[in-house]
Amino acid sequence: MSWLSNYLSSSIGRKQLMAVTGLMLCGFLIVHLLGNFTLFAGYSTETIDGKIVEVCAFNKYAHALTANKAILFLAELILLAIFGSHIYLALTLSLENRAARGNVRYDVNAKAGPMTLSSATMPYTGSWILLFLVLHVATFRFTDHTSIEMGLYGLVSDTFQNPLWTIFYIVSLFLVAAHVKHGFQSCLQTIGFNHPKYNGMIQTVSTVYAIFIFVGFSSIPLWFIFTR
Ligand code: HEM
Repeated sequence: MSWLSNYLSSSIGRKQLMAVTGLMLCGFLIVHLLGNFTLFAGYSTETIDGKIVEVCAFNKYAHALTANKAILFLAELILLAIFGSHIYLALTLSLENRAARGNVRYDVNAKAGPMTLSSATMPYTGSWILLFLVLHVATFRFTDHTSIEMGLYGLVSDTFQNPLWTIFYIVSLFLVAAHVKHGFQSCLQTIGFNHPKYNGMIQTVSTVYAIFIFVGFSSIPLWFIFTR
């Protein structure tokens, strides 16, 4: 296993691991967003065993995800490891790079193109996202919603009735989009998709992805604040 420890202690190995974890997080965001879209379905009525009952698509979806505690624990552990490694590698590579090159920032891939606002601000947008994540997970994952009338759906809905939370979310989601716009293309180039023939297409895909993330996630707090 010494090849593995050699690989992970080399600068290129850690940059590639950071890129792979970054791409996994991009995948997580898409899955999370698609799942959250069930919030728009609100409550509807269904006939179960001849009785008309109210069902909430989002609560049903969240329940399905969390029903098996062992799988939930494992999935959360994997997610934590991916977030943790990505943040740790970003921080250490950035510090090493600064120490080696004076005050020049770390770039995942120097060939990723000219410095843009989103590439230059990666450490700052990344730090904000970390703060956002701590507050987000504390609010939605670790707040007891069993006494709230509409369960987890009610918790999300109540949270976004507060305009301060909604503004904080929209600002944070804009910064998430700025971070992933550069991050997505940079990760792809770090793992080898770096060719003049594909770079234009990669940039377009990154921009479309970032817009989808921003518009998709932001539509949720805006929908709650304007429709409830
Ligand atoms: C409007 C935007 C968002 C909404 C409404 C939302 C909603 C939620 C909800 C309801 C949960 C709790 C799920 C449960 O307990 O079953 C959750 C968990 C989580 N969210 Fe979000 N989310 C949003 C944006 C984001 C973004 C942008 C990120 C990442 C940057 C993110 C990362 C997470 C993580 C890591 C968890 C914890 C997952 C777990 O422990 O199972 N969320 N979100």
